Amino acid sequence: MVVFLKEFEAYLSSHLPKAPSFHPHYEDAIAQMLLAGGKRFRPALLLAVVKAHNSLLIPSAYAAAYAIELLHTYSLIHDDLPCMDDADLRRGKQTLHIKYDEVTAVLVGDALNTYAFEVLSESAFSDEVRVKLIRSLAKNGGIGGMVLGQAIDCQFENQPLRIEQVKILHINKTAKLIAASLQMGAIISGQNDLAKELYDFGIKLGLLFQVQDDILDVTQTSEEAGKTSQNDGDKNSFVKLLGLEGTMAEADKLAEELNEQLKGFDTRLYNELSPILSKYLARHK
Ligand code: IPE
Ligand code: IPE
Ligand code: MG
Ligand code: MG
Ligand code: MG
Repeated sequence: MVVFLKEFEAYLSSHLPKAPSFHPHYEDAIAQMLLAGGKRFRPALLLAVVKAHNSLLIPSAYAAAYAIELLHTYSLIHDDLPCMDDADLRRGKQTLHIKYDEVTAVLVGDALNTYAFEVLSESAFSDEVRVKLIRSLAKNGGIGGMVLGQAIDCQFENQPLRIEQVKILHINKTAKLIAASLQMGAIISGQNDLAKELYDFGIKLGLLFQVQDDILDVTQTSEEAGKTSQNDGDKNSFVKLLGLEGTMAEADKLAEELNEQLKGFDTRLYNELSPILSKYLARHK
């Protein structure tokens, strides 16, 4: 589909975490969810921004794209645990706690989370850029970002939240990491003003992404989705709050606003981002 995604896959498979030991499956389990695929949406966003503004930096940017995918993959492994969403299928494969056991899934998640920062710390950028990248990923993926969103998501199962609270939940759980992907691309390209603009765009894009994910939970089978679907019954999903029609209308509204914002970006950035976003920005009708 997208710029450099084949190269990104090659980079990922040749940079899998190495952890040789006498443990029977630790190293394999760490690699499994990374190799199972996924849309690689966040790496594609980061690489698109770098390609638009400083394509010579693409080879070094793979490490940062990989770091985001590592952190995202950890979040999925933990999201599927019995104490969270209790899901058996992810990226078309058995989840790690089903294939192995819960302790393996918890620890593989922990390993991928910390490895993300190891990878960033060793990336081929100046110290200043590396620190900015580490900060962006930590802030958006951690305490006041994805983890907070997951905490609210799980705490309020079967307790309806108000629409503003649901938005806060989804902005933290999903949108901040997507916003960070664009922001990190701008940091690598040395475009500090753009980093802020792209972050705000990314928050709205991430909200749309989660709105669409909530729609897929009710409209797709697990087989089609490659992950356990029909699984949001207890959740404060958009569909639960607004109904399917209402959620589609919300998606269309967000898509329209994003389309307008996208047109305001410079031509190179527009041309790189458009093909990645077209599927998400298309109207539902
Ligand atoms: C799933 O993310 C979790 C959400 C934030 C909605 P993706 O839909 O990006 O999952 P993969 O990476 O393609 O498996
Ligand atoms: C999870 O949202 C977002 C994460 C931070 C992993 P969901 O629980 O809706 O994601 P899926 O539908 O299981 O992929
Ligand atoms: Mg969840
Ligand atoms: Mg889930
Ligand atoms: Mg979902």
